[in-house]
Amino acid sequence: MKHLLSTADLSRIEAIELLDTAEEMSLVSTREVKKLPVLRGLTVVNLFFEDSTRTRISFEAAAKRLSADVITFSAKGSSVSKGESLQDTAQTLSAMGADGVVIRHSGSGAPHRLATSGWIDAPVVNAGDGTHEHPTQALLDAFTLRRVLAGLPASGPADGARGLALDGAVVGIVGDILHSRVARSNVHLLTTLGARVVLIAPPTLLPIGADTWQCDIAYDLDAAIAEHSFDVVMMLRVQQERMQQAFFPTAREYARRWGLTDTRARALPAHCAIMHPGPMNRGFEIGAAAADSPRAVVLDQVANGVSVRMSVLYRLLTGQSAAAGGREGQS
Ligand code: CP
Repeated sequence: MKHLLSTADLSRIEAIELLDTAEEMSLVSTREVKKLPVLRGLTVVNLFFEDSTRTRISFEAAAKRLSADVITFSAKGSSVSKGESLQDTAQTLSAMGADGVVIRHSGSGAPHRLATSGWIDAPVVNAGDGTHEHPTQALLDAFTLRRVLAGLPASGPADGARGLALDGAVVGIVGDILHSRVARSNVHLLTTLGARVVLIAPPTLLPIGADTWQCDIAYDLDAAIAEHSFDVVMMLRVQQERMQQAFFPTAREYARRWGLTDTRARALPAHCAIMHPGPMNRGFEIGAAAADSPRAVVLDQVANGVSVRMSVLYRLLTGQSAAAGGREGQS
């Protein structure tokens, strides 16, 4: 694995190895072990052409906990506003020294372009590109789900999840699938790991071709909750900033029919966890009671994001697939 651009590129074995290494890294993420020296002397460049809170900060934390130097670039306030291209920006940052590049961009395919153009010679990690993919989000979702299914704490150090896949798990992904890179990456990864995925959305918020994806599709959330014994429902943010025109349904209609209201949350199976990639629109796609309920693992997802991104950076920058021996040199 030279780059991480899409979860479709991961085999089941590679995905499980990344999750297993993330389990090792969770010891560092929770500060039980302070820092690993495995990327000492290497530089990770974070190129953020689009806003982010969770992904940008957790990639920074991940790289620092592996002892890498980190350069973070945000398009806002940069020479991008003067018209500088992706190529020139990437090559400028690369000239300062980059052993790995993490990129978020509003253009679907920008990470792929960076990885295959020859502009830079470093592993590229897709941190979310347009409506296309967000592979590390799917990995942290799978990591969290694997913990939940095993009856383990959803985040923090725990023994018992290593080697496990997600065979037999039933996952509902609800909402604005049309604009969701999270949904696309999750459909690839969760099905590779053996889960069954049901997409539930208004017909207007499903992408053309979704019926060819390896998942089921439903339009009625109440009927889907009654029909499927979901192990997790993943509520998606309605991405109003990507809407080309006034969208149907209206916000009010959407919240009523596809939002995880308190009543609807109570109708979920007792064991069902609630996920959201964040940022949440409370009162729109998810009610406050559901978002703050004990079955919500939203903050566990955030915590696990650091471990998963450590695993990805470790794998890409060292070529190794497990953290074996990493703890020997802890500082
Ligand atoms: N889930 C996610 O990508 O959040 P940010 O946009 O805050 O990075």
